[in-house]
Amino acid sequence: MSSPTISHDSVRAVLWQGDRLRLLDQRLLPAQERSIDCTDADEVATAIRDLVVRGAPAIGIAAAWGVVLAAQRDPASLPGALATLRAARPTAVNLMWALDRMKRAIDAEADAAALAREAQAIQDEDLAANRRMGELGAALIEGGSGVLTHCNTGSLATAGFGTALGVIRAGVADGRIARVFAGETRPWLQGARLTMWELLRDGIAATLIADSAASHLMKTGQVQWVVVGADRIAANGDTANKIGTYQLAIAARHHGVKFMVVAPSSTVDMATTTGEDIEIELRSSDELLGYAGARTVVEGAKAWNPVFDVTPHTLIDAIVTERGVVEKPDAARMAALFGAR
Ligand code: MRU
Repeated sequence: MSSPTISHDSVRAVLWQGDRLRLLDQRLLPAQERSIDCTDADEVATAIRDLVVRGAPAIGIAAAWGVVLAAQRDPASLPGALATLRAARPTAVNLMWALDRMKRAIDAEADAAALAREAQAIQDEDLAANRRMGELGAALIEGGSGVLTHCNTGSLATAGFGTALGVIRAGVADGRIARVFAGETRPWLQGARLTMWELLRDGIAATLIADSAASHLMKTGQVQWVVVGADRIAANGDTANKIGTYQLAIAARHHGVKFMVVAPSSTVDMATTTGEDIEIELRSSDELLGYAGARTVVEGAKAWNPVFDVTPHTLIDAIVTERGVVEKPDAARMAALFGAR
Protein backbone atom coordinates (compact mmCIF):
# COMPACT_ATOMS: atom_id res chain seq x y z
CA MET A 1 0.00 0.00 0.00
CA SER A 2 1.41 3.41 -0.84
CA SER A 3 1.91 5.81 2.05
CA PRO A 4 -0.54 8.72 2.26
CA THR A 5 2.32 11.23 2.22
CA ILE A 6 3.63 9.80 -1.03
CA SER A 7 0.23 9.79 -2.74
CA HIS A 8 0.01 13.56 -2.03
CA ASP A 9 2.83 14.20 -4.48
CA SER A 10 1.79 14.26 -8.13
CA VAL A 11 4.04 16.89 -9.74
CA ARG A 12 7.36 16.22 -11.51
CA ALA A 13 9.19 19.26 -12.96
CA VAL A 14 12.34 17.64 -14.42
CA LEU A 15 11.93 14.63 -16.71
CA TRP A 16 14.74 12.92 -18.59
CA GLN A 17 13.59 11.64 -22.00
CA GLY A 18 16.68 9.71 -23.13
CA ASP A 19 17.99 12.39 -25.50
CA ARG A 20 16.35 15.55 -24.18
CA LEU A 21 15.40 17.13 -20.86
CA ARG A 22 11.75 18.03 -20.40
CA LEU A 23 11.16 20.92 -17.98
CA LEU A 24 7.76 22.08 -16.75
CA ASP A 25 7.86 25.80 -17.54
CA GLN A 26 7.44 27.41 -14.11
CA ARG A 27 7.21 30.89 -15.63
CA LEU A 28 3.74 30.03 -16.91
CA LEU A 29 2.16 28.36 -13.88
CA PRO A 30 -0.58 28.27 -12.80
CA ALA A 31 -2.20 29.69 -15.93
CA GLN A 32 -0.61 27.16 -18.29
CA GLU A 33 0.94 23.72 -17.72
CA ARG A 34 3.46 23.62 -20.56
CA SER A 35 6.86 21.98 -20.82
CA ILE A 36 9.91 22.83 -22.88
CA ASP A 37 12.48 20.33 -24.16
CA CYS A 38 16.20 21.14 -23.87
CA THR A 39 18.47 19.33 -26.28
CA ASP A 40 21.85 20.78 -25.29
CA ALA A 41 23.65 22.15 -22.24
CA ASP A 42 23.29 25.77 -23.37
CA GLU A 43 19.52 25.40 -23.46
CA VAL A 44 19.56 23.92 -19.96
CA ALA A 45 21.72 26.81 -18.68
CA THR A 46 19.32 29.31 -20.23
CA ALA A 47 16.34 27.51 -18.69
CA ILE A 48 18.01 27.73 -15.26
CA ARG A 49 18.87 31.42 -15.69
CA ASP A 50 15.36 32.30 -16.92
CA LEU A 51 13.64 30.34 -14.11
CA VAL A 52 11.94 27.79 -16.37
CA VAL A 53 13.33 25.43 -13.73
CA ARG A 54 14.10 26.84 -10.27
CA GLY A 55 14.62 25.76 -6.69
CA ALA A 56 18.06 24.74 -5.45
CA PRO A 57 17.86 20.93 -5.81
CA ALA A 58 15.99 21.11 -9.15
CA ILE A 59 18.59 23.34 -10.79
CA GLY A 60 21.34 20.95 -9.65
CA ILE A 61 19.46 18.01 -11.14
CA ALA A 62 18.74 19.87 -14.40
CA ALA A 63 22.41 20.87 -14.68
CA ALA A 64 23.49 17.24 -14.22
CA TRP A 65 21.26 16.28 -17.15
CA GLY A 66 22.73 19.21 -19.10
CA VAL A 67 26.14 17.56 -18.70
CA VAL A 68 24.69 14.31 -20.06
CA LEU A 69 23.35 16.17 -23.13
CA ALA A 70 26.82 17.64 -23.74
CA ALA A 71 28.40 14.17 -23.47
CA GLN A 72 25.86 12.72 -25.90
CA ARG A 73 26.45 15.47 -28.46
CA ASP A 74 30.21 15.95 -28.20
CA PRO A 75 32.41 14.88 -25.28
CA ALA A 76 34.87 17.62 -26.27
CA SER A 77 32.24 20.19 -25.30
CA LEU A 78 32.13 18.99 -21.67
CA PRO A 79 34.52 21.55 -20.11
CA GLY A 80 32.63 24.43 -21.74
CA ALA A 81 29.27 22.94 -20.76
CA LEU A 82 30.35 22.58 -17.12
CA ALA A 83 31.46 26.23 -17.06
CA THR A 84 28.29 27.54 -18.72
CA LEU A 85 26.00 25.57 -16.42
CA ARG A 86 27.96 26.63 -13.33
CA ALA A 87 27.57 30.30 -14.22
CA ALA A 88 23.80 30.08 -14.68
CA ARG A 89 22.93 31.20 -11.11
CA PRO A 90 25.28 32.03 -8.19
CA THR A 91 23.56 31.42 -4.86
CA ALA A 92 22.20 27.85 -4.71
CA VAL A 93 25.18 25.59 -4.01
CA ASN A 94 23.27 22.51 -5.21
CA LEU A 95 24.13 23.66 -8.75
CA MET A 96 27.90 23.60 -8.07
CA TRP A 97 27.56 20.43 -5.96
CA ALA A 98 25.85 18.52 -8.80
CA LEU A 99 28.34 19.78 -11.38
CA ASP A 100 31.31 18.85 -9.16
CA ARG A 101 29.84 15.36 -8.86
CA MET A 102 29.42 15.08 -12.63
CA LYS A 103 32.98 16.40 -13.10
CA ARG A 104 34.33 13.65 -10.83
CA ALA A 105 32.54 11.09 -13.02
CA ILE A 106 33.99 12.71 -16.18
CA ASP A 107 37.47 12.63 -14.61
CA ALA A 108 36.92 8.92 -13.95
CA GLU A 109 36.31 8.58 -17.73
CA ALA A 110 32.58 7.97 -17.55
CA ASP A 111 30.92 7.82 -20.98
CA ALA A 112 27.52 9.37 -21.74
CA ALA A 113 25.67 6.29 -20.45
CA ALA A 114 27.62 6.31 -17.19
CA LEU A 115 27.02 10.05 -16.82
CA ALA A 116 23.30 9.44 -17.30
CA ARG A 117 23.40 6.92 -14.47
CA GLU A 118 25.11 9.52 -12.27
CA ALA A 119 22.51 12.19 -13.10
CA GLN A 120 19.72 9.69 -12.39
CA ALA A 121 21.37 8.87 -9.04
CA ILE A 122 21.47 12.57 -8.12
CA GLN A 123 17.77 12.83 -8.95
CA ASP A 124 16.78 9.63 -7.13
CA GLU A 125 18.83 10.47 -4.04
CA ASP A 126 17.16 13.87 -3.83
CA LEU A 127 13.69 12.30 -3.77
CA ALA A 128 14.77 9.84 -1.07
CA ALA A 129 16.34 12.67 0.99
CA ASN A 130 13.13 14.67 0.78
CA ARG A 131 11.02 11.78 2.07
CA ARG A 132 13.41 11.27 4.99
CA MET A 133 13.44 15.00 5.82
CA GLY A 134 9.65 14.96 5.72
CA GLU A 135 9.60 12.40 8.53
CA LEU A 136 12.32 14.10 10.57
CA GLY A 137 10.89 17.60 10.23
CA ALA A 138 7.26 16.66 10.85
CA ALA A 139 8.30 14.89 14.06
CA LEU A 140 9.40 18.27 15.49
CA ILE A 141 5.94 19.80 15.06
CA GLU A 142 3.37 19.56 17.85
CA GLY A 143 -0.10 18.25 16.91
CA GLY A 144 -2.62 20.86 15.76
CA SER A 145 0.03 23.40 14.72
CA GLY A 146 -0.19 26.02 12.02
CA VAL A 147 2.78 26.60 9.72
CA LEU A 148 3.87 29.39 7.41
CA THR A 149 6.11 28.67 4.42
CA HIS A 150 7.86 30.93 1.93
CA CYS A 151 8.74 30.61 -1.75
CA ASN A 152 8.25 27.18 -3.36
CA THR A 153 10.15 24.24 -1.94
CA GLY A 154 7.98 21.45 -3.27
CA SER A 155 8.09 18.91 -6.07
CA LEU A 156 8.53 21.82 -8.48
CA ALA A 157 11.78 22.78 -6.75
CA THR A 158 13.23 19.28 -6.26
CA ALA A 159 13.13 15.74 -7.65
CA GLY A 160 9.78 15.38 -5.89
CA PHE A 161 8.01 15.66 -2.52
CA GLY A 162 9.96 18.78 -1.58
CA THR A 163 12.03 20.01 1.35
CA ALA A 164 10.00 22.41 3.53
CA LEU A 165 6.93 21.42 1.54
CA GLY A 166 7.84 17.77 2.15
CA VAL A 167 7.73 18.41 5.89
CA ILE A 168 4.36 20.08 5.36
CA ARG A 169 3.08 17.16 3.26
CA ALA A 170 4.21 14.69 5.95
CA GLY A 171 2.89 16.84 8.83
CA VAL A 172 -0.51 17.26 7.20
CA ALA A 173 -0.71 13.54 6.43
CA ASP A 174 -0.05 12.53 10.03
CA GLY A 175 -2.32 15.20 11.49
CA ARG A 176 0.32 17.33 13.19
CA ILE A 177 -0.22 20.29 10.90
CA ALA A 178 -3.74 21.71 11.02
CA ARG A 179 -3.19 24.95 9.08
CA VAL A 180 -0.86 25.83 6.18
CA PHE A 181 -0.15 29.42 5.15
CA ALA A 182 1.98 30.39 2.14
CA GLY A 183 3.52 33.82 1.64
CA GLU A 184 3.09 35.11 -1.90
CA THR A 185 6.89 35.65 -2.29
CA ARG A 186 7.21 38.83 -4.25
CA PRO A 187 8.38 39.70 -6.79
CA TRP A 188 8.35 36.41 -8.71
CA LEU A 189 5.39 35.00 -6.73
CA GLN A 190 6.76 31.49 -6.15
CA GLY A 191 4.39 31.16 -3.18
CA ALA A 192 1.27 32.52 -4.86
CA ARG A 193 1.80 30.94 -8.29
CA LEU A 194 3.65 27.71 -7.51
CA THR A 195 3.17 26.61 -3.89
CA MET A 196 -0.59 27.26 -3.92
CA TRP A 197 -0.91 25.39 -7.25
CA GLU A 198 1.14 22.44 -6.03
CA LEU A 199 -0.59 22.13 -2.65
CA LEU A 200 -4.11 22.46 -3.96
CA ARG A 201 -3.39 20.01 -6.76
CA ASP A 202 -2.24 17.48 -4.15
CA GLY A 203 -5.30 18.01 -1.98
CA ILE A 204 -3.59 20.01 0.79
CA ALA A 205 -5.62 23.01 1.95
CA ALA A 206 -3.53 26.17 2.15
CA THR A 207 -4.18 29.86 2.71
CA LEU A 208 -2.27 32.54 0.82
CA ILE A 209 -1.06 35.66 2.62
CA ALA A 210 0.63 38.80 1.37
CA ASP A 211 4.28 38.72 2.44
CA SER A 212 3.60 41.83 4.48
CA ALA A 213 0.90 40.00 6.51
CA ALA A 214 3.39 37.56 8.09
CA SER A 215 4.05 39.41 11.36
CA HIS A 216 0.35 40.00 11.89
CA LEU A 217 -0.33 36.30 11.21
CA MET A 218 2.20 35.34 13.89
CA LYS A 219 0.79 37.87 16.36
CA THR A 220 -2.68 36.36 15.97
CA GLY A 221 -1.35 32.96 17.09
CA GLN A 222 -2.28 31.06 13.94
CA VAL A 223 1.19 29.64 13.25
CA GLN A 224 3.62 27.85 15.56
CA TRP A 225 6.36 27.16 12.98
CA VAL A 226 7.85 28.89 9.97
CA VAL A 227 9.18 26.13 7.68
CA VAL A 228 11.43 27.14 4.77
CA GLY A 229 13.99 25.66 2.39
CA ALA A 230 17.51 26.84 1.65
CA ASP A 231 19.80 27.65 -1.25
CA ARG A 232 23.04 27.45 0.69
CA ILE A 233 23.79 26.70 4.32
CA ALA A 234 27.19 27.91 5.55
CA ALA A 235 29.41 26.00 7.97
CA ASN A 236 28.00 27.92 10.96
CA GLY A 237 24.36 27.33 9.97
CA ASP A 238 23.75 30.77 8.42
CA THR A 239 21.21 30.11 5.68
CA ALA A 240 20.65 31.78 2.32
CA ASN A 241 17.10 31.43 1.05
CA LYS A 242 14.54 33.39 -0.94
CA ILE A 243 14.42 37.11 -0.20
CA GLY A 244 12.07 37.73 2.71
CA THR A 245 13.14 34.68 4.70
CA TYR A 246 15.33 36.79 7.02
CA GLN A 247 12.49 39.09 8.00
CA LEU A 248 10.28 36.04 8.68
CA ALA A 249 12.96 34.69 11.05
CA ILE A 250 13.16 38.01 12.90
CA ALA A 251 9.39 38.19 13.22
CA ALA A 252 9.21 34.55 14.31
CA ARG A 253 11.70 35.07 17.13
CA HIS A 254 9.82 38.19 18.28
CA HIS A 255 6.54 36.27 18.46
CA GLY A 256 7.84 33.01 19.95
CA VAL A 257 7.21 31.13 16.67
CA LYS A 258 9.77 28.39 15.87
CA PHE A 259 11.85 28.57 12.68
CA MET A 260 12.83 25.43 10.72
CA VAL A 261 15.12 25.18 7.67
CA VAL A 262 14.74 21.99 5.61
CA ALA A 263 17.41 21.15 3.04
CA PRO A 264 19.33 18.11 1.76
CA SER A 265 23.04 17.79 2.56
CA SER A 266 23.72 18.92 -1.04
CA THR A 267 22.67 22.42 0.13
CA VAL A 268 25.19 22.42 3.00
CA ASP A 269 28.42 24.17 2.01
CA MET A 270 31.02 23.52 4.70
CA ALA A 271 33.58 25.39 2.54
CA THR A 272 31.67 28.64 3.14
CA THR A 273 32.43 29.79 6.67
CA THR A 274 29.52 32.16 7.30
CA GLY A 275 26.60 33.71 5.48
CA GLU A 276 28.73 36.80 4.79
CA ASP A 277 30.61 34.73 2.21
CA ILE A 278 27.51 33.73 0.20
CA GLU A 279 26.98 35.52 -3.09
CA ILE A 280 23.48 36.94 -3.29
CA GLU A 281 21.98 36.91 -6.78
CA LEU A 282 20.77 40.27 -8.05
CA ARG A 283 18.18 39.95 -10.79
CA SER A 284 16.79 42.47 -13.25
CA SER A 285 14.87 45.40 -11.82
CA ASP A 286 12.22 44.56 -14.46
CA GLU A 287 10.98 41.79 -12.11
CA LEU A 288 9.95 44.55 -9.68
CA LEU A 289 8.94 47.30 -12.05
CA GLY A 290 6.32 45.32 -13.94
CA TYR A 291 4.40 42.08 -14.02
CA ALA A 292 3.84 39.68 -16.94
CA GLY A 293 5.37 42.16 -19.35
CA ALA A 294 3.19 45.09 -18.23
CA ARG A 295 4.88 48.00 -16.48
CA THR A 296 3.31 48.64 -13.05
CA VAL A 297 5.67 51.38 -11.79
CA VAL A 298 6.10 54.85 -13.20
CA GLU A 299 8.62 55.09 -16.06
CA GLY A 300 12.01 56.31 -14.86
CA ALA A 301 11.74 54.64 -11.44
CA LYS A 302 14.66 52.51 -10.27
CA ALA A 303 14.48 49.24 -8.31
CA TRP A 304 16.91 47.03 -6.34
CA ASN A 305 16.18 43.31 -6.68
CA PRO A 306 18.30 40.96 -4.53
CA VAL A 307 16.48 37.61 -4.73
CA PHE A 308 18.00 35.88 -1.68
CA ASP A 309 18.90 36.92 1.84
CA VAL A 310 20.82 35.29 4.69
CA THR A 311 19.19 34.29 7.96
CA PRO A 312 21.75 34.20 10.79
CA HIS A 313 22.02 30.82 12.48
CA THR A 314 21.04 32.39 15.82
CA LEU A 315 17.48 32.85 14.52
CA ILE A 316 17.12 29.20 13.41
CA ASP A 317 15.67 26.58 15.78
CA ALA A 318 16.35 23.54 13.60
CA ILE A 319 18.07 22.63 10.36
CA VAL A 320 16.58 19.40 9.04
CA THR A 321 18.64 17.35 6.58
CA GLU A 322 18.40 13.72 5.48
CA ARG A 323 21.43 13.01 7.68
CA GLY A 324 19.69 14.28 10.79
CA VAL A 325 18.49 17.41 12.59
CA VAL A 326 20.80 20.16 13.85
CA GLU A 327 18.96 21.97 16.65
CA LYS A 328 20.09 25.50 17.50
CA PRO A 329 22.74 25.30 14.76
CA ASP A 330 26.23 26.73 15.16
CA ALA A 331 29.64 25.86 13.72
CA ALA A 332 30.32 23.06 16.24
CA ARG A 333 26.92 21.39 15.80
CA MET A 334 27.15 21.65 12.00
CA ALA A 335 30.66 20.15 12.05
CA ALA A 336 29.42 17.29 14.25
CA LEU A 337 26.99 16.23 11.51
CA PHE A 338 28.81 17.30 8.36
CA GLY A 339 32.48 17.08 9.37
CA ALA A 340 34.89 19.98 9.70
CA ARG A 341 36.06 21.56 6.46
O1 MRU B 1 14.75 31.84 -7.11
P1 MRU B 1 14.26 30.46 -6.78
O2 MRU B 1 12.80 30.27 -7.04
O3 MRU B 1 15.11 29.39 -7.42
O4 MRU B 1 14.47 30.34 -5.20
C1 MRU B 1 14.09 29.14 -4.57
C2 MRU B 1 14.26 29.18 -3.10
O5 MRU B 1 14.72 30.14 -2.52
C3 MRU B 1 13.89 27.93 -2.35
O6 MRU B 1 13.41 28.23 -1.08
C4 MRU B 1 15.14 27.05 -2.22
O7 MRU B 1 15.79 26.92 -3.45
C5 MRU B 1 14.83 25.71 -1.70
S1 MRU B 1 13.92 24.73 -2.86
C6 MRU B 1 13.73 23.20 -2.17
